[in-house]
Amino acid sequence: MTPNFAAATNPLRDGLRRTRRSLPGALVIFGASGDLAHRKLVPALFALQHDDLLDDRTMIVGVSRRDWDDDAFRARMRQGVEEFGRVPVTDAAWGRFAQRLVHHAIREESDAEYAALRERLAAHEARIDAPAENVFYLSTPPSLFAAVSRRLAAAGLFANAVPGVGEDDAGRGRARLVVEKPFGTDLASARALNRDLISLVPESALYRIDHYLGKETVQNLLVFRFANGMFEPLWNSRYVEHVEITVAESIGVAGRGAYFEEAGIVRDMVQNHVFQFLALTAMEPPVEFAADAVRTEKVKVLRALRPIDPARIAESCVRGRYVRGAPGGKEIPGYLEETGVPPGSTTETYVALRLWIDNWRWGGVPWYLRVGKAMPKKVSEIAIHFKPAPHRLFGGDVGQNVLAIRIQPDEGMSLRFLTKLPGPDMVAQPVTMDFRYGTSFGAAPPEAYERLLLDALIGDSTLFTRDDEVEASWQWITALRDAWKGSSVEVPETYEAGTWGPAGADALLERDGYRWRRP
Ligand code: BG6
Repeated sequence: MTPNFAAATNPLRDGLRRTRRSLPGALVIFGASGDLAHRKLVPALFALQHDDLLDDRTMIVGVSRRDWDDDAFRARMRQGVEEFGRVPVTDAAWGRFAQRLVHHAIREESDAEYAALRERLAAHEARIDAPAENVFYLSTPPSLFAAVSRRLAAAGLFANAVPGVGEDDAGRGRARLVVEKPFGTDLASARALNRDLISLVPESALYRIDHYLGKETVQNLLVFRFANGMFEPLWNSRYVEHVEITVAESIGVAGRGAYFEEAGIVRDMVQNHVFQFLALTAMEPPVEFAADAVRTEKVKVLRALRPIDPARIAESCVRGRYVRGAPGGKEIPGYLEETGVPPGSTTETYVALRLWIDNWRWGGVPWYLRVGKAMPKKVSEIAIHFKPAPHRLFGGDVGQNVLAIRIQPDEGMSLRFLTKLPGPDMVAQPVTMDFRYGTSFGAAPPEAYERLLLDALIGDSTLFTRDDEVEASWQWITALRDAWKGSSVEVPETYEAGTWGPAGADALLERDGYRWRRP
């Protein structure tokens, strides 16, 4: 399964370079003094420049309340790029990058400050003498999403947030709005936010981020499924016995207790990232690889999810909370010991779910998801367990075919199948065939935010979530959360930090005759 590319080539990057490049204009990041800009967004932009994917006329405006001038902002961002970036920082490359980086203070949320921003963007447009595609990126606390957007609209900055990409008939560039997660906290708040934002910019100009969609391996789910003729005929209830999705992180909530207490793992990870895995793995082939075609198929999966039966929730849902542990000798304090977590907390840091997708393709196939903090290692994978051969010629319980798609780390895939154990007897032995991105492509895949920022700058919303998609996933999650209140799963089971979750999660699978993989 290992293609033989010369080590010096990087088909991923070279492919991108051939066809895609940011459009002239500005990327305006609200919340530029925050952690995300420092650790992810600006390092990703620097990597895009390194890979020659940023037009020289693309300016980056950091908006924050800080009293920074451009140089102070640049110095702070350079630290972030050096510490968290994927590519080396040379003075020459930084010099080129710093020229496009400016800071714009908005302290009082006043009309004057937004008008000044508009003037700054207009001056840039005049300087580059090209229609500017301006992208407004909200990396602020979610409570500000609607308010900042209203200000931007009032300042006229969404006047040309219209469908399409590039220069319009009047020769103007178009504006887009990118919104970070979380997009709502339940169905009602997600709907309200959708309503607020769509009253200001059309859905086609609204880009909701789920950074997992920017991961190469997540996108590869589509290529793997729909570019190969060989797997798709098996990708259904006739051949698949069950599907297992694991998203584990080794860190605990690590100081984010106050945020996490309000969210819990189901809202923090399942509603968005994990449901995206599920939707991409389960969806029907789209008619084309284009934003609406792909998203339409994903929504159908989310709508086909069988609602959890509140009376039988314990059969399908196990919630867990970690207590102090010391995996590998490194102490992780228990969740209840985190600042911002009240003693009576019932917030989950782990969840295991059994789901059913009630449609033609997946009827009768259980989907098991488990997601947790403070697990033995950071690993995300999707494992397709195929039905065993109908008759065992070679005796013994030697297992079945499993296709494991490793999202991260050690990105790749492995296929487990049976072979004859060398020797005089006919004994079947499982072996695996392995594909690794690093080995095959000679480089680690780019960071998720690189792809998403480039797509937003280009005007491609395929890897962003649509309003109906967000609402469909919140609908299921909100019903789940309502169902566990007052039920036997309301108080989470405990597990020691550094273990694979509570005992109840093992029991959930054992009842169906399965066991979780140990990735
Ligand atoms: C974020 C969650 O969306 O994803 C965090 O809020 C989580 O709690 C993070 O740690 C994981 O992202 P990644 O890319 O490191 O797997």
